[in-house]
Amino acid sequence: MIQSLSYIGFSSPGYAEWLTFGPEVLGMQIAGRGDDGTVRLRVDDADHRLVIHPGAEHALAYLGWGVRTPAELAALTARIEEYGLTVHEGGPELAAERRVAGLSWFEDPWGNRHEISWGQFRHPGSFRPGRPMGGGFVTGEQGLGHAVLVVPDMGEANDFFTRILGFRLSDRIIDPPLNAQFYHVNGRHHSLAIAEVPGAAGFQHLMVEVASLDDVGIAYDLCEERDVPIVLTIGRHVNDLMTSFYLYTPAGFHLEYGHGGVVVDDALWEPATYTSTKIWGHRGTRYRDELPFALFNEPKERG
Ligand SMILES: [Fe+2]
Repeated sequence: MIQSLSYIGFSSPGYAEWLTFGPEVLGMQIAGRGDDGTVRLRVDDADHRLVIHPGAEHALAYLGWGVRTPAELAALTARIEEYGLTVHEGGPELAAERRVAGLSWFEDPWGNRHEISWGQFRHPGSFRPGRPMGGGFVTGEQGLGHAVLVVPDMGEANDFFTRILGFRLSDRIIDPPLNAQFYHVNGRHHSLAIAEVPGAAGFQHLMVEVASLDDVGIAYDLCEERDVPIVLTIGRHVNDLMTSFYLYTPAGFHLEYGHGGVVVDDALWEPATYTSTKIWGHRGTRYRDELPFALFNEPKERG
């Protein structure tokens, strides 16, 4: 079973901007560079959790999901192959680059690359925030944060992510035209959400959570000072109760920067349906209309 979102990678012509943007605005730590200039960022004791590779266009490169053991990786691989997708073994070189003990990867039916790994490298006591922070990032067993994908058909994507990958429904938000479903694999309210947009597929946003509300406010101030586009103002979500705002990163993806998300107890949790995304705030700025909504994948021939 997938245990957490353990890392995520993007490619972008704006990769080098992350050397300052990541630490100075978001509070992340530079965890090292690749030979090609790739920027790796640390948010806790994991070797790194966010990677920005050089690339001609903004794109999601991979979603990195963690499992506990090689046996779980093998079992999940079998289920994905039974579904009809090809799963590739990552090999020792890729495992070394990702700083994990072992991994496999596959492309989902919507063009997103998923990597499944175990044994992520950790360096206890190593995290130094890139700017003063009140409490660092909320990770641990809740993983890096959450990722939101755009899918063309809710039913098909829900089937794949729940029946094959084992994601568990947290709740739904139906606020036409928004139709979104949220899934957990640990205490984090959602590690994955999918939003249905007919005819489209892609990556919508990454959320990282900080332990102090002040760190959200400080990031907001820094975005305003540095003209980092704020896409949605500060607000609070109805379902995970996250107090957050959304910004547009130099890698062309939206990032939700939040605090105070609920922790799900699977034994007691009952999925609800909501009719709005927010209790208050989260107002769209002009950037919401001016900037791309998502990193859209090329439409593919479906087999
Ligand atoms: Fe979110």
